[in-house]
Amino acid sequence: MILTFEQEKAVIRTLLRKLGASEEEASATAEVLAEGDLRGFGSHGLLRLPYIMRALKRGTIVANAKVRVIKETPATALLDGGHGLGHHIATRAMRLAIERAKKQGIGAVGVRNSNHFGIAGYYAEMAMRKGLIGIVTTTTDALVHPWGGVEPLLGTNALAIGIPSKPPVLLDMAMSVAARGKLVKAMKEGKSIPEGWAIDSEGRPTTDPKKGLEGALGPFGGVKGYGLALALEILAGPLVGAAAGKEVKGTLEPVEGFSTKGDFMITVDPAAFGSVSEFEARVQKFLTQLKESRKAPGVVELLVPGEPEFRAREKRLREGIPIADEVWAEIERIAKELGVNLADILARSR
Ligand SMILES: NC(=O)c1ccc[n+]([C@@H]2O[C@H](COP(=O)([O-])OP(=O)(O)OC[C@H]3O[C@@H](n4cnc5c(N)ncnc54)[C@H](O)[C@@H]3O)[C@@H](O)[C@H]2O)c1
Repeated sequence: MILTFEQEKAVIRTLLRKLGASEEEASATAEVLAEGDLRGFGSHGLLRLPYIMRALKRGTIVANAKVRVIKETPATALLDGGHGLGHHIATRAMRLAIERAKKQGIGAVGVRNSNHFGIAGYYAEMAMRKGLIGIVTTTTDALVHPWGGVEPLLGTNALAIGIPSKPPVLLDMAMSVAARGKLVKAMKEGKSIPEGWAIDSEGRPTTDPKKGLEGALGPFGGVKGYGLALALEILAGPLVGAAAGKEVKGTLEPVEGFSTKGDFMITVDPAAFGSVSEFEARVQKFLTQLKESRKAPGVVELLVPGEPEFRAREKRLREGIPIADEVWAEIERIAKELGVNLADILARSR
């Protein structure tokens, strides 16, 4: 199935509205999920909607949730998301962080009582589009092992850093070498996984995806990636009053009770540190130096973080977003169950 960006958003919005989500919640969720698919991060696109629908039905994601600022200073805010839709709450949190950086030069917003928010880069880009630097992180269920450890104790804790530049620099990455979804896919296809992606439950490196899923994912970048994942777990966990380690629940599948994950976002106005045009010129000079630098054999072009996804985005906006058969079949099943005519939506939102 190939969908346009507008069609994907319309399908998501309609299905979420059917389960009681407000227009604002449904639109924000649709926007971030469809942006995930546009950028080629399919693991954080439409694929996630059935999970969200299941959690809405169980009441572990709350429709029409009350999102409140529960603590604030001129530069900071702590949001209680009321267990609502994570994408919507994170969008609100980043709006607050942007407001604060515009006034104070810097903003930091923490989020608790929320849900999985999809691609971290979406929110860092919101800041970037306002001329700010955006830094975003979040926690997930424990999937990654600590360095030297055997048990999964750290989330894949996405980290996004967006810099307003040309081309825009948008680093957006998980803390694991490979996403859990890639192991699930390899297992379904009967394929092995590269060594380093995961360990089995005894702590031995494995190339068997099933054993890897029973064990733990490897942190990217060895001991340094482990250290970064751990630091982010504390920022988006205990700092904002959310859980850490094994206590983080509800980002993979709906669980008994609410999700205990957290988010943390920082915004910085380059104007707080000097002339914005000078900052832009310096960044430009650096990126040009990087682009024009000598390339390794076989490499034709050096890219900055974010460029692969922005290129995929442009292509998919032109050519449409390919949706995997099994994902679309699940959407059709849900639509049927809710009495939603998908053909109508697709025709109206081309
Ligand atoms: N919400 C959550 O709980 C959660 C958790 C984990 C990951 N995620 C999301 O999953 C998505 C995928 O993460 P990932 O780690 O698999 O991403 P990835 O490994 O595909 O990309 C990581 C980064 O590397 C950059 N990159 C890739 N190739 C490059 C090249 N040749 N030159 C320069 N830069 C290059 C990308 O632009 C990106 O910034 C992200 O959007 C992330 O936010 C979300």
